[in-house]
Amino acid sequence: MKVAKRIETLPPYLFAEIDRKIAAKRAAGVDVISFGVGDPDSPTPSHIVDAIKTAAADPATHQYPSYFGMADFRRAVAAWYMRRFGVDLDPDTEVLPLIGSKEGLAHLPVAFVDPGDVTLVPDPGYPVYQVATHLAGGTGVPFALRAENGFLPEWDAIEVPERTKLVWLNYPCNPTAAVATLDDFEQAVAFARANEILLVHDNAYSEITYDGFVAPSVLEVPGSKDVAVEFHSLSKTYNMTGWRCGFVVGSAVAIEALGRVKTNIDSGIFNAIQLAGIAALEGPQDFLVDLRTLYAKRRDLVVETFNDMGWSLQPPKGSIYVWLPVPDGHDSSSFATFLLEEAGVVVPPGRGYGEAGEGYIRISLTVNDDRLVEGLERIRKALG
Ligand SMILES: Cc1ncc(COP(=O)(O)O)c(C=O)c1O
Repeated sequence: MKVAKRIETLPPYLFAEIDRKIAAKRAAGVDVISFGVGDPDSPTPSHIVDAIKTAAADPATHQYPSYFGMADFRRAVAAWYMRRFGVDLDPDTEVLPLIGSKEGLAHLPVAFVDPGDVTLVPDPGYPVYQVATHLAGGTGVPFALRAENGFLPEWDAIEVPERTKLVWLNYPCNPTAAVATLDDFEQAVAFARANEILLVHDNAYSEITYDGFVAPSVLEVPGSKDVAVEFHSLSKTYNMTGWRCGFVVGSAVAIEALGRVKTNIDSGIFNAIQLAGIAALEGPQDFLVDLRTLYAKRRDLVVETFNDMGWSLQPPKGSIYVWLPVPDGHDSSSFATFLLEEAGVVVPPGRGYGEAGEGYIRISLTVNDDRLVEGLERIRKALG
């Protein structure tokens, strides 16, 4: 048997590789602390868990869900967008539920990218944008996000090859933890419009922000629905990574195209999860204050620890990560290996997020407080 060429050239998913390394170390008896994957360590709020318990006990949820998601879930998404961003969405044509936002991001190029087409991919960036383009037969052309520019795109410097179909963007950003303002999004929308391409904004971390920063939506830019879609996820906002529930909103043309792909591939989200999703979007949001405070405390601890050791990090204003340069004499991979070997701490090397990620590592803040303190202490000793 012979697998497809597109698979032969597909790198293993970054965290699948990291999981393998962790397993090998643990098998060798090492007490590994992972600062790797961004997976909230706090439980899903209890009112959401209660909602799925009730919903799962109701046989009405046990059959195939609607292909386009429950109308009530789509309405809850539209209402949340209005409350949160002041953006008006038609729940029937401008909202599409997803089996986690990764699923939708990965399928979008099937709807937009023909073999030989191009997408513009932020570098460093969430690896799915590049890989999904590749799987659809296209080429992801990176554009660099540089520290000197606050890890924001330098739109005038981006070359747009022929056959470019879309540009990906993600703020608050994984992995750089940079945030963008509405002004920045206005430039992004203008870029997409001028080049007649789709702007795909991934807003998975919109609710995880600090120091009073409130993340905007790309769709707050007037007229953006003509050229943009925005992906969202319940994963990080409501500690629901395992539940697989997200959605995409915006351009009705793009939503219809992605919906057509999905109806042919999957059969939607378990109705009980959608009902719990409604409880999440419509229920009390005050636990978010505590969640932000928890991550901010951990962020400050990471930043202070490294700054004590000679780094000069600014505390990031969003996401659940700290992105930091590796010390002289290391590249991102050798420093990640050093931390694993000498401190038993796992971090993803920046190179895993693209060429421009070289020279950095990422620390996730979703590690419980005791393990975070211990991991940082071990790093201090290893570097000392
Ligand atoms: C930028 C970004 N987008 C999307 C996702 C996927 O989230 P979901 O759990 O909704 O698939 C992640 C997960 O880490 C992410 O970092």
